[in-house]
Amino acid sequence: MENTVKKLYSAVQPTNNLTIGNYLGAIKQWVQLQDEYDCTFAIANMHAITVRQDPANLRRKTLELLALYIACGVDPQKCTLYLQSHVPCHAELAWVLNTFTYVGEMERMTQFKDKSAKHADNINMGLMDYPVLMAADILLYQADVVPVGLDQRQHLEITRDIAVRFNNIYSPTFTVPEGLYMKVGAKIADLSDPSKKMSKSAENPNGSIFLTDDRDTILRKFRRAVTDSGNEVKFDAENKPGVSNLLSIYSVFSDKTTAEAERDFEGKGYGDFKQAVGEVVADRLAPIQAEQARLLADKDYLNAVLKSGAEKAYSAARKTLSKVYKKIGFYQL
Ligand code: TYM
Repeated sequence: MENTVKKLYSAVQPTNNLTIGNYLGAIKQWVQLQDEYDCTFAIANMHAITVRQDPANLRRKTLELLALYIACGVDPQKCTLYLQSHVPCHAELAWVLNTFTYVGEMERMTQFKDKSAKHADNINMGLMDYPVLMAADILLYQADVVPVGLDQRQHLEITRDIAVRFNNIYSPTFTVPEGLYMKVGAKIADLSDPSKKMSKSAENPNGSIFLTDDRDTILRKFRRAVTDSGNEVKFDAENKPGVSNLLSIYSVFSDKTTAEAERDFEGKGYGDFKQAVGEVVADRLAPIQAEQARLLADKDYLNAVLKSGAEKAYSAARKTLSKVYKKIGFYQL
């Protein structure tokens, strides 16, 4: 009988410290979906080197991210967790897909344009090719769904275009994946400038809540968060972007709808509101931080997870790659 459990794939880059945007846009969804889907989650270290990384730091961040996935509730017994560079098929498929992707398409990518401006001294080929590697990640595992934040939507769309293009030229080879975005939380904004996304690499660290921040830092950053004119705690993304962002954060961290969250602050001022948002976030992150620290002390366990993850990932990826090589005419022994 055909396996009817759908496949889910996602990844995060092991760069800097993750923010609550990464948690709410991606990892929190993964935890909710892991019982329903056949899940594969990668640590995207090959994507990370598209901007210059300190080698020792990259190695350390890799294990920290794995520990974080598990501490957030991603279960290595249910899901495949692996490091992208442990499976050479990613680079191999990316090369093939490069020949089905146009330079103009890559030049139009918003993230490429933003990162080129930020790293003007290092606009390398990898930075431009980043979405093709991401397409290779997703297509290797024949993913049906890809839960990510809204900033990855354009990369998901190009992945679909590449898959359809290849399938049309040859015959159906790749599953055409759908992006999966949280209703609330898919686009968490910077606390000091709600017009910008909260980012791991933001210049002003006060605008981002890092998953490693301690309670006092979290409370202080929320206290300083930009609100809007008026004094009512109401969700209105257009006219009250600061307050709406904080309400979104509060509602997902407290598992409430935004309407319920609004009700919690009826008749209350912005000061009380910001204090409450800080507290709910700090309360939620504390046990995750403790569990991450506990896991990081057990390197043998983390290595074992990566080893078995790489084996599982490799066998799925190789199967797709062999199919591709056959279709394009690579002579195989
Ligand atoms: P990365 O490492 O930049 O971000 C990881 C995840 O966090 C989401 N995210 C956000 N969500 C809501 N609000 C925000 N402010 C916010 N900032 C980031 C991102 O959308 C992402 O889901 N290219 C990817 C990694 C990747 C990948 C893949 C993802 C590599 N291969 C294959 C999916 C499938 C990236 O750089 O994510």
